[in-house]
Amino acid sequence: MKTLAVDIGGSGVKALVLNETGEPQNKRSRVDTPQPATPEKIVGAIAELASAQAFDRVSVGFPGVVRQGIIDTAVNLDTSWVGFDLEKTLTEKLGKPTRVANDADIQGLGAVSGKGVELVITLGTGFGSALFVDGKLVPNLEMGHHPFRKDQTYEEQLGRTALESIGKKRWNRRLEKAIATLEHLFNYERLYIGGGEARQVTLNLPANVAIVENIMGLLGGIALWRD
Ligand code: BGC
Repeated sequence: MKTLAVDIGGSGVKALVLNETGEPQNKRSRVDTPQPATPEKIVGAIAELASAQAFDRVSVGFPGVVRQGIIDTAVNLDTSWVGFDLEKTLTEKLGKPTRVANDADIQGLGAVSGKGVELVITLGTGFGSALFVDGKLVPNLEMGHHPFRKDQTYEEQLGRTALESIGKKRWNRRLEKAIATLEHLFNYERLYIGGGEARQVTLNLPANVAIVENIMGLLGGIALWRD
């Protein structure tokens, strides 16, 4: 049983084949996110990545709120996503059972230990977040669009656009403030930081905070088929 794990991002669409225990079976493949990032174009990009692989089922991480495979929000892609049934479309197009969930939720499913309150944030085009209690996911936590400081959201302060405009040093200082705020709010046992820009983190992290590799966004895909 092989799972094609797909991660739809604001800058790239990535894919990797996993075996039953979630181990990668090949090297990650990637295409640039088509612009405009409409459902039709992204589905086309996924079909292209899938055409080079053999697999039995598909897991997809999507950068927005997802309910029963239907897209609710997609702030960094295109407004035409709202209401789009990505799960059904891909099941038909690829001819394999498909499950779709929020990208940060999938990243978290790959990263958490399953003990106590664990929070995951992802730093990339957007700011993703996922909350777990004893390994059980609270789906679609949207911290990114919540006010953080100076009348701006976490995503406005810490997303890729902010990183590019203020530079790594100031961005790290902001991140330090965000971690302090989130720790007060969630009183988590552990915080995980993932996403494509997690490698830019240079600050000294508290003992209960860990960086996780961006590949978790694909490896976590196996968890969608756990039950
Ligand atoms: C979206 C989240 C997503 C995050 C990371 C945010 O803009 O609202 O759903 O998890 O970006 O892609």
